[in-house]
Amino acid sequence: MEIPVTSKKSEGYSIYIEHDFSGFKDKFVLLFPEARKVCIVSDESVYSLYKDSVEPLLKDNFEVVSFVIKPGEASKDINVVLEIEKFLKESGFSRKDVLLGIGGGVVSDITGFAASLYLRGIAHVFIATTLLAMTDASIGGKNGVDFEGIKNILGSFKMPAMIYMPLNTLDTLPEREFYAGFAEIMKHGLLADAKFYMWLIDNMYEICDKDKDTIANMLETSINIKKAIVEKDPFENGDRALLNLGHSIGHALESYFAGEYVHGEAVALGCVAAAFISWKLNKISMEDYYEVRDMFVPFNLPISIQMDKADYEDVYSRLTKDKKNSGGNINMVLLKKIGKAELVKDISKEMVFAALDELNFTEED
Ligand SMILES: NC(=O)c1ccc[n+]([C@@H]2O[C@H](COP(=O)([O-])OP(=O)(O)OC[C@H]3O[C@@H](n4cnc5c(N)ncnc54)[C@H](O)[C@@H]3O)[C@@H](O)[C@H]2O)c1
Repeated sequence: MEIPVTSKKSEGYSIYIEHDFSGFKDKFVLLFPEARKVCIVSDESVYSLYKDSVEPLLKDNFEVVSFVIKPGEASKDINVVLEIEKFLKESGFSRKDVLLGIGGGVVSDITGFAASLYLRGIAHVFIATTLLAMTDASIGGKNGVDFEGIKNILGSFKMPAMIYMPLNTLDTLPEREFYAGFAEIMKHGLLADAKFYMWLIDNMYEICDKDKDTIANMLETSINIKKAIVEKDPFENGDRALLNLGHSIGHALESYFAGEYVHGEAVALGCVAAAFISWKLNKISMEDYYEVRDMFVPFNLPISIQMDKADYEDVYSRLTKDKKNSGGNINMVLLKKIGKAELVKDISKEMVFAALDELNFTEED
């Protein structure tokens, strides 16, 4: 299945949802008639699983080298990006050559960022191997790394030349990572498409069984939601910020808990917090809040945390660094109703603490 993406400021590109790697070679070779070299960027786990599926497809047409990083969020570091730049320079990469990322959102964010810097930008392609990267991280051209404990604070906008999604890679994805991807899918339904949200509820069992046709349909709708928003607002001057539903408190908790929650799990917690605040500000009903919260449970996503109340200040201080804030105030994406979100300014500290209290599960509860 091909989903074409248009872009105001750069060439458009296509997203391919496929069963396996068999359709990759022809599409890739056609895109880069003048390239001589390809640098594969991947992480150790993904590369050991899929090196033999990808490298042989490229060897006849390109000189292939690889740069393999450690799996996990800690690799989203500017020094890793600089090592890639050094490697490209030492390997003699020119403007016509290509970076090919294979992996999840971490590899996607790093590959795009590295490609945007080298010689002021060389082409990059991404093969997504996690549900989260397929539905969200690989799409829309936002790239970046974490810096001084703050998520995604350094980065760039650069569109890929193609995104390829071989669904068979989901067979090797650990269960926890599979469900983490669902958090971003649910987010897309919540912020833009109530019908899709209902569809997710109706197809819960097929999704959990990883039925490939259901997954392909789910990805198509979820990708189209993100694509429509990004096409209208590629550089996040307006509605693209809505895609950050769940990411304000989510990112603050992700960095506070430092590795305890994977990204998608932190987004689920952030969505619950955002839905709670939406209820408290009379934007959605209590019933809607509890329904949203409980929807994450069958997908093995967390809806509660355990933390010392004395640390709320620490989480709040991380939240103050969020990119959506302005003039020292906390701005947050909230739900207007199921299927519609809005950016709300000046969320009070008391409200943030109340949301943390709602999430915080203590023995007395
Ligand atoms: N740029 C964006 O628009 C955007 C959007 C959402 C998320 N993100 C970023 O994405 C990152 C999270 O991405 P993620 O959840 O994909 O995590 P990830 O890239 O860390 O991958 C998760 C784990 O799964 C392993 N893995 C990947 N594919 C596999 C496969 N097919 N089989 C077996 N193991 C596999 C990886 O080695 C890793 O250990 C975060 O850093 C987040 O900030 C970016």
